[in-house]
Amino acid sequence: MSTQLEKIQELINLRTEARLGGGEKAIQKQHEKGKYTARERIAQLLDEGSFEEIDMFVRHRCHNFGQEKKSFLGDGVVTGYGTIEGRLVYVFAQDFTVFGGSLSETMALKICKIMDMAMKMGAPVIGLNDSGGARIQEGINALAGYAEIFQRNIMASGVIPQISAILGPCAGGAVYSPALTDFTIMTRGISYMFLTGPKVVKTVTGENVTQEALGGADVHSTKSGVAHFAANDGEETLKIIRKLFSYIPQNNLEEPPVVECNDPIDRMEDSLNEIIPESPNKPYDMYEVIGAIVDNGEFLEVQRDFAKNIIVGFARMNGQAVGVVANQPKFLAGVLDSNASRKGARFVRFCDAFNIPLVTLVDVPGFLPGTGQEYNGVILHGAKLLYAYGEATVPKVTVTLRKSYGGSHIVMSCKQLRGDMNYAWPSAEIAVMGGAGAVEVLYAKEAKAAEDPKKVLAEKEKEYNDLFCNPYNAARYGYIDDVIEPRNTRFRVIRALQQLATKKVVNPAKKHGNIPL
Ligand code: HXC
Repeated sequence: MSTQLEKIQELINLRTEARLGGGEKAIQKQHEKGKYTARERIAQLLDEGSFEEIDMFVRHRCHNFGQEKKSFLGDGVVTGYGTIEGRLVYVFAQDFTVFGGSLSETMALKICKIMDMAMKMGAPVIGLNDSGGARIQEGINALAGYAEIFQRNIMASGVIPQISAILGPCAGGAVYSPALTDFTIMTRGISYMFLTGPKVVKTVTGENVTQEALGGADVHSTKSGVAHFAANDGEETLKIIRKLFSYIPQNNLEEPPVVECNDPIDRMEDSLNEIIPESPNKPYDMYEVIGAIVDNGEFLEVQRDFAKNIIVGFARMNGQAVGVVANQPKFLAGVLDSNASRKGARFVRFCDAFNIPLVTLVDVPGFLPGTGQEYNGVILHGAKLLYAYGEATVPKVTVTLRKSYGGSHIVMSCKQLRGDMNYAWPSAEIAVMGGAGAVEVLYAKEAKAAEDPKKVLAEKEKEYNDLFCNPYNAARYGYIDDVIEPRNTRFRVIRALQQLATKKVVNPAKKHGNIPL
């Protein structure tokens, strides 16, 4: 029988062993690849000294391929809880030094345990992914483990925020857990995500492609939209998570954190009175407008490099977190297309699920025409954005800066989609379509018959523009609540948000809607 002191020493020894994961050699290999270990990452992510580990002594139960002779304490994932800026979060970090971070039955049980705890406590879950996928030796038990995690991702969706950092491989079906979470942050150079790797791609399609070109951080943050952020290294990845957390609440029943605001709410921004160019076809930079109206110009942009014709991200107004959605006239004239629509829709739904008011800045000429878009299902994608705005019950403040035409006018949080306060600048043009297009439809025959068709069209266009291309026609019907001076936008939006703080709208009870996916 060992003495109490010997038992305590045994505990200390086991902890030391567990903290080494797959051993010093494997840790060294991890560092040589420019990657941190699971525990190092957790320490960087959480408030100093706040991490409490759970299930350090779990080992796998597999007896196939001699696995019983090879097991590690913790079994390839470090799980537990800690704080970010003093707020509780649950974390799992896959440990690549143990069987390449591959997912075993017991690893899945560990992850599921902290996900269940997070749901019970109403706190976010952060997953740090670095894994070779299903632990091959465990066969179907590893697959079952993935499915258990996915099911929990689905149940937690819209209840607690879920964030995925990709800090190494994430391939095969494993990619579906991050895809089911709210935000995915990839790390350049060390992370990749794909359903089938380059070898399978080569066999099936004959295509030669590298891991980076198939599913690296740049691919997913610019082309596919799978990643919401791309960071330059592991530390930056974790910093983005901390920053993101400052804007979002712990769960769907709480409000986002409010910070003290030292930026005057009635700050006049004279530059905005001059930002709209005289020519309607000249672009300006919507980032300047966002920067001018939000607290201290601080904006955390989501999916910055994907579908740049729409801008989405988090900011604060009078210390309160808001989700900003804005067309970007500087990119493709701010037109809505399939990618911009699904980017906007997903962001709007996140904000609505987590009680973050929406501030929408509109300058949109319409939907992008053409077979490319139609074959790609722009009808369905556009409908996603429409659906997202229409179902959202958070405070919705819309400011139309310039163009707001046709279907895109409706989609961008118009009054009839339950926009709470809809403002317009004097430069706003709210109409079914632009003047040139409209007179082509209405007066083509008349112009053809006339001596000078161009003159007829020009006259009619002026008539149309005078009548429709202004904010007052919409304001006359109450579709615009007020026409505001651009320099006063910050103040007016903040006042609207203050007014809307007690807003209560409940959608009809249903099992769930059928958003056009
Ligand atoms: C068991 C694994 C493993 C796995 C890696 N290892 N992946 N063990 N199951 N899936 C082990 C390796 O054998 C090695 O063990 C150690 O982890 C480190 O791996 P290396 O190959 O030395 O590292 P590296 O060169 O960096 O390559 C990483 C890698 C590669 C690209 C991830 O290991 C790899 O291709 N692994 C297999 C990926 C895969 O096909 N997974 C299954 C996908 S199917 P030792 O003992 O030598 O250190 C899938 C289905 C999921 O995941 C479905 C969900 C619904």
